[in-house]
Amino acid sequence: SAVTITIPVVVHVLYNTTAQNVTDAQIASQIDVLNEDFQKLNADVTKTPSAFAGSVADVGIAFTLAKRDPNGNATTGITRKQVTQTSWGTDDKMKSSTTGGTNAWNTSQYLNIWVCNLSGGVLGYAQFPGGAAATDGVVILTTGFGRYGSAAAPFNLGRTATHEVGHWLNLRHIWGDASCGNDYVSDTPTQQTSNTGCPTFPKRTCGNTTNGDMFMNYMDYTDDACMYMFSNGQSSRMNALFATGGARESL
Ligand code: ARG
Ligand code: ZN
Ligand code: CA
Repeated sequence: SAVTITIPVVVHVLYNTTAQNVTDAQIASQIDVLNEDFQKLNADVTKTPSAFAGSVADVGIAFTLAKRDPNGNATTGITRKQVTQTSWGTDDKMKSSTTGGTNAWNTSQYLNIWVCNLSGGVLGYAQFPGGAAATDGVVILTTGFGRYGSAAAPFNLGRTATHEVGHWLNLRHIWGDASCGNDYVSDTPTQQTSNTGCPTFPKRTCGNTTNGDMFMNYMDYTDDACMYMFSNGQSSRMNALFATGGARESL
């Protein structure tokens, strides 16, 4: 694995019940998953069907909990706040102290991850590059965070954050959010719609009569145990953000 960039991460834990106050160990498990998945170090990559094995990418991105806060002081890279809200929507209120949450740390220098109790069965959501600075980052449901502690099956292997950080690095859903839609990546086969659960290979849609859907891609909606790869094209799309003039060059 050749790491080309290391991204400092701050995790903002927002808890109402003490059970939602995820431990440092649960947070560490999530950072481990991100490093494995973005460096093709995940043990389950061996499940990739041989038809897609040549497409699996080492994205070359590492993640580390921040060691300095925005003022230059030593930090664990974790903030914790007990909140009165019992759950949150996808309206970014968790990202501002004026709406009960925690403000982002400088989003040109950190990946901000808010961990909270999202309502409505939402596992997580992300902001694409180029959006408002104050709301840049990803939000992950407490029980879909990490692979330890309160993480609950079938979303207990930390892949929600892998998927959301993929969006944060400009990746679209693999089916292009339309019937046989476009994800702007050429080595991901055109796919009719999202897959859920754990499909059996091959699953052929959109006239793709050979290998079918790349449903084991992190940008599908399959279970955590059934997604284990980014493609080379997705890796190029993500890495382009760090080139001169790219939206995440400052990181
Ligand atoms: N539904 C969420 C989204 O669109 C995340 C899906 C994550 N999937 C998973 N197996 N953890 O962003
Ligand atoms: Zn998504
Ligand atoms: Ca594609």
